[in-house]
Amino acid sequence: MSDSNKNWVPVCDAVELQPMLGVRALLENEQVAIFRVQDQLYALNAIDPFSNAAVLSRGIVGSLKDQIVVASPLYKQHFNLATGVCLEDDTVSVKTYAVREEGGKIQLATN
Ligand code: FES
Repeated sequence: MSDSNKNWVPVCDAVELQPMLGVRALLENEQVAIFRVQDQLYALNAIDPFSNAAVLSRGIVGSLKDQIVVASPLYKQHFNLATGVCLEDDTVSVKTYAVREEGGKIQLATN
C-alpha cells in the first residue's frame, strides 16, 4: 500500500525524537517505541515479548551483525528495528509500524 493510502496519526512532535533515543507513544491502545537512527525512522511495539514489559523505547540502539537493533533493557535480547525480529531467537518478533515525519510531527500508520 502506498503512503497516501495509509491512515496516518500524529503521535508526538518530531523535536522530541532525538537520534538514538527512543520515544514511547500511544497508537490507539498500543504502546509504540519510535527511534531515529541515521536520519531513518523506525517504530515497533514497545512491549518486550520476553518480559511483557513496555520497555523497548528505553533500549540501547546499536548495530549488530550488520543490522540496526534495539537491545531490551531487561534481558538484553536484540530486535531488528526494521523487521522486529529478535536476533537471538528468530521465532520471536515484535510488530513494526509504518512511520514518517510530516509537518513537524511523527506520524504512525494504523493500517
Ligand atoms: S551485543 Fe550488546 S548485549 Fe548483546
